[in-house]
Amino acid sequence: MTSVGVLGATGAVGQRFIQLLDGHPDFDLSVLTASPASAGERYRDAAKWRLDTPIPDDVADITVRDTDPDAIPDDTDLLFSALPSDVGERVEPALCEAGFVVSSNSSNARVADDVPLVIPEVNADHLELIDVQREERGWDGALVKNPNCSTITMVPTLTALTQFGLERVHVSTLQAVSGAGYSGVTSMEILDNVVPHIGGEEAKMETESRKLLGEFTGDGVSWLDATVSASCNRVPTLDGHLENVFVETSEDVTPEDVAGAFEDAPTLDLPSAPDPLVEVFEEPDRPQPRLDRMLGDGMAVAAGGIQETDTGIQYNCLAHNTIRGAAGASLLNGELLARDGWL
Ligand SMILES: NC(=O)c1ccc[n+]([C@@H]2O[C@H](COP(=O)([O-])OP(=O)(O)OC[C@H]3O[C@@H](n4cnc5c(N)ncnc54)[C@H](OP(=O)(O)O)[C@@H]3O)[C@@H](O)[C@H]2O)c1
Repeated sequence: MTSVGVLGATGAVGQRFIQLLDGHPDFDLSVLTASPASAGERYRDAAKWRLDTPIPDDVADITVRDTDPDAIPDDTDLLFSALPSDVGERVEPALCEAGFVVSSNSSNARVADDVPLVIPEVNADHLELIDVQREERGWDGALVKNPNCSTITMVPTLTALTQFGLERVHVSTLQAVSGAGYSGVTSMEILDNVVPHIGGEEAKMETESRKLLGEFTGDGVSWLDATVSASCNRVPTLDGHLENVFVETSEDVTPEDVAGAFEDAPTLDLPSAPDPLVEVFEEPDRPQPRLDRMLGDGMAVAAGGIQETDTGIQYNCLAHNTIRGAAGASLLNGELLARDGWL
């Protein structure tokens, strides 16, 4: 078994990690960290558990540690990070320098030149950047990132369309409140409302997508030469980001070509990888967050409403933002790191 830990284990994403790691065939969870306010407490006392399955018995009594290299046992093979990005920016490099491999969900360093930003079904080869990172930073450990939840919803569909010469992407999102964390949006703000602004989200979609779809060149990533423009909206759903995507390609494509490309999207033989990766709906009113966010145990992307427009193709896609969009994404990256011998 691979020995793993969760950084920021008491938070919304940290709790998802614990839920997803329960009963994992290859990973054994024994290390939990959080802020100094929680360190020293039993997990059951430190965490305000908010998921609809109970805290796993073997986790509830683990003592929460400080998020500090000296507080983490040296024989921990892999750390999953759900830290706030300002904390991750400070602590993750220190952990990598101390020799730990960190699969991180935090937004810091996602577009740094020597940091692999990975969705295993899209760009597993970008993990090779770890060699560049270790060379440049002198680390024995490694830092690997997964993208933002709205980006990860769209990119598995876009990667299927690169074969048609992707030139321009416009996307408008309808994002669930859980994406802002438990206390991120108040009920007075979001009930009976839509908030047409999510700070920094549009830029993340525009940059992270192009890096993910870029090419590993041996010493870096050459970003996809396409334009991506995003408009992000917070809506009163609990989980599941729905996105309206408009693409322009250099080749003429039909809705049937697009549906076929989505259905052929690659799947991987990893414990948390869904099969199929993209579930295609013919019903024009699907996917919907409440009905479709748990496809593939929350790891699949759903697509539908595929149709021609005057400029190209339009479709809708959906994924569970705290599973495929957060903890599940880091977990899948961890499974890839283990499979490919990076631990
Ligand atoms: N929520 C989502 O859907 C989502 C999706 C994608 C990405 N993300 C990203 O994932 C990360 C975590 O988000 P979240 O919603 O889970 O946040 P959260 O609920 O606020 O949890 C934050 C976690 O970090 C710990 N922490 C806070 N300050 C710390 C410090 N100074 N040192 C060490 N640990 C500290 C907290 O511990 P205490 O309990 O002790 O305070 C808690 O365990 C963020 O970077 C966020 O941007 C979230």
